[in-house]
Amino acid sequence: MYDMVTTTPATQLIIFGASGDLTRRKLIPALAGLQAAGNLDSSVSIIGVSRSKKSDEQYREELANSIPSELRDAYDKMKDRIFYHAADVTVPEQVKGLREYLDNKAGGDEVGRLFYLSLKPELFSKVLKALGNEDMLKTSNALSPHWRRVVVEKPFGHDRESARKLNDCMHDYLREDQIYRIDHYLGKETVQNILGLRFHNTIFEPLWNRHHIELVQITVAESIGVEKGRAGFYDENGAMRDVVQNHMLQLLALVAMEAPTTLDADDIRNRKVEVLRALHCPDASDVAKQSVRARYSAGEVDGEAVIGYLDEEGVPEGSDTETYVALRVDVDNWRWSGVPFMLRHGKRMSKKFTEIKIQFRTPPVQLFNRPDGMSESDFRRKLKEGSLCQARPNVLTIRIQPEEELTLSFGVKTPGADMIMTPAKLSFNYDNFFHSESAPAYQRLLLDALQGDPTLFLRADEIDASWLYTDEVIAGWKAADAPAIVEYPAGSQGPDIADELFTGCEGCWSRG
Ligand SMILES: NC(=O)c1ccc[n+]([C@@H]2O[C@H](COP(=O)([O-])OP(=O)(O)OC[C@H]3O[C@@H](n4cnc5c(N)ncnc54)[C@H](OP(=O)(O)O)[C@@H]3O)[C@@H](O)[C@H]2O)c1
Repeated sequence: MYDMVTTTPATQLIIFGASGDLTRRKLIPALAGLQAAGNLDSSVSIIGVSRSKKSDEQYREELANSIPSELRDAYDKMKDRIFYHAADVTVPEQVKGLREYLDNKAGGDEVGRLFYLSLKPELFSKVLKALGNEDMLKTSNALSPHWRRVVVEKPFGHDRESARKLNDCMHDYLREDQIYRIDHYLGKETVQNILGLRFHNTIFEPLWNRHHIELVQITVAESIGVEKGRAGFYDENGAMRDVVQNHMLQLLALVAMEAPTTLDADDIRNRKVEVLRALHCPDASDVAKQSVRARYSAGEVDGEAVIGYLDEEGVPEGSDTETYVALRVDVDNWRWSGVPFMLRHGKRMSKKFTEIKIQFRTPPVQLFNRPDGMSESDFRRKLKEGSLCQARPNVLTIRIQPEEELTLSFGVKTPGADMIMTPAKLSFNYDNFFHSESAPAYQRLLLDALQGDPTLFLRADEIDASWLYTDEVIAGWKAADAPAIVEYPAGSQGPDIADELFTGCEGCWSRG
């Protein structure tokens, strides 16, 4: 159970993009979840802001329609603290009006204010300028009772240069400790548990390095295609920018980072940024060998025929955007040198799952599983020449979606006279063990932002290092002799050619 959000004397959560999809589907249900869990103090008021005109009552009704039934009671308890103000937040005059509106609420401008930018990314700088010029972001220090914080949604920039520009713009008006850049993956229990698993238990850490780990595999597989109404936005970004640059590199950083000195936000983020800076920036020829970009063609998902990406409504003709990426990433540091990090993300794959697999090295000598009838000397010879491999590696699987689970695979002797080893598993499932479902990521992140804990948010230098690597891969794809984008049928495991990324190491893509 977390602490209740209690700030003195009161808190205003101001959501820009009040009528948007994210607010309706995630933010308001997350706040209702906090209310239901007893984490939302009655001194927190929620003010939705967007351009369309409506009354508080209309806005409350609109939100009520999209609240899941199990949160309806909690929503009813908090709805009198939800307000609506119509304004175009890029227009200075209207921002001035917003300031007056907020100042006229209980507590005046002595309250703490959290501005949540749930707006199109191209508006972020404009809104910050408007708020900054109206003096709405100033506060003496992070502990001041009338604190000011800003949550920024993803994507943060389109490349390193635009992300730097946005960071510069933010730093014109805000100190770094006032900025909360969201990556909602960090709000997931299993993702936070990566640090707990590694640094609270002593059995894993001694093995967590190049001496014992053959490879690390991270998959974010989606069975859905491009979402309705989002094709234009998606096509400008593609799978690399949409998922790999942010969520997947964050997962990689958590798996690969050194132990922090404390759990303070900066200690953790310092460790993550070291890993992101150690990502080997590939040149065009590395990119050609170590990456596959692909796009789904027509196929079948869950027994239903689906169209290909190029035929989706809103995808521009002649699009060259990838919906699938597979990468073999090198981390150039002492711990990980020579260990491939295999990353894969795709839309319209056979099923939805997100997982991290830590694959340990196989034993140096294989004693078990001699095929029936094969002599010991033939067995030894075949193992040596590599035509037979009878050892299964131990694999630690951290499952993030749809189940939240940890599984350790190992071999056990099959009962009987022969020395035959069979793969077995030890499993831990979050929901079954704790008899409750984990809180949604946005619930945790909103609570942290309201309480002023930035640990699960991204710092400017993390974003910068992630973009440096991402930009290099994308530049490699644009090189004159870069391999062309390939296709994979919707509902498949992705293109077969991605299997070649495993050349030289023992492994294959997980089927989830
Ligand atoms: N939706 C998701 O699942 C999701 C997931 C991850 C990240 N995100 C990020 O979250 C942000 C919001 O996404 P969304 O899907 O909610 O967008 P959306 O549905 O298009 O909503 C945008 C909102 O912004 C308001 N708005 C637009 N221009 C405005 C202005 N000048 N002043 C004030 N309000 C303005 C719109 O209302 P009016 O037209 O009435 O002004 C609307 O409420 C984006 O950065 C997106 O990348 C969304």
